[in-house]
Amino acid sequence: MNFIGKLRLGVNIDHVATVRNARGSSYPDPLRAALMAQEAGADGITAHLREDRRHIRDEDIAALVAGLQVPLNFEMAATAEMQAIALRYRPHAVCMVPERREERTTEGGLDVAGDEANMAAFIAPLCDVGARVSMFIGHDARQIAACARIGAAVVELHTGHYCDLHHEGRFAERDVELATLREGAAYAHSLGLEVHAGHGLTFDTVAPIAAIPEVMELNIGHFLIAESIFIGLGPAIAEMRRQIDAARS
Ligand code: PXP
Repeated sequence: MNFIGKLRLGVNIDHVATVRNARGSSYPDPLRAALMAQEAGADGITAHLREDRRHIRDEDIAALVAGLQVPLNFEMAATAEMQAIALRYRPHAVCMVPERREERTTEGGLDVAGDEANMAAFIAPLCDVGARVSMFIGHDARQIAACARIGAAVVELHTGHYCDLHHEGRFAERDVELATLREGAAYAHSLGLEVHAGHGLTFDTVAPIAAIPEVMELNIGHFLIAESIFIGLGPAIAEMRRQIDAARS
């Protein structure tokens, strides 16, 4: 297999903040989790500052920017408020995601093709300050081509549907979805886009995604934080890292 490069693991620490906020306490601290993730082999930390601040808060972003050695991937919706925050902190990467208040997590991909001019204008200042801008999309060729046209450096392909099909035991449909993700990754790479993938990945679903040669980064959160209840955060990340490396070798 001709891999494009080493597969990076980005650990999403939003769910640590979810636990903290559920109790209204000052712990668990997302920065502490991020530092532990860094220690356990994460290549980057992902945090989503939502408009309603339901998990990560502004002060968490400030603490992550000040305290991390690995790159911060700042997930955000296309709003003026979030753009101003990203321009202030200048994170290594910005991942644009759709956001709806009523959703529990990022449910679908962005419609870049349907809003190309606005998206291009929105990401331009972020690109100008050196952020690697990523667009979180489905695997549809129309969306991928639009991301290349607006000047994004990266696309992150949404793996949520593939994972849901797996966990529902709908294996034939899962395999079709996986094949389409593979095609999407190859197409995005052919247009010069760096390819990332994420959402819903677990020990049961990560290997086929990690084995897609064009994929260079996975962003994983919920499962790792959930698994850390049983085996600890460091071991959960180290095991994910091991499984990714095994799928890649
Ligand atoms: N990538 C993006 C763009 C996301 O929005 C999320 C969820 O916040 C993830 C990856 C991680 O998904 P999960 O928490 O299901 O692993």
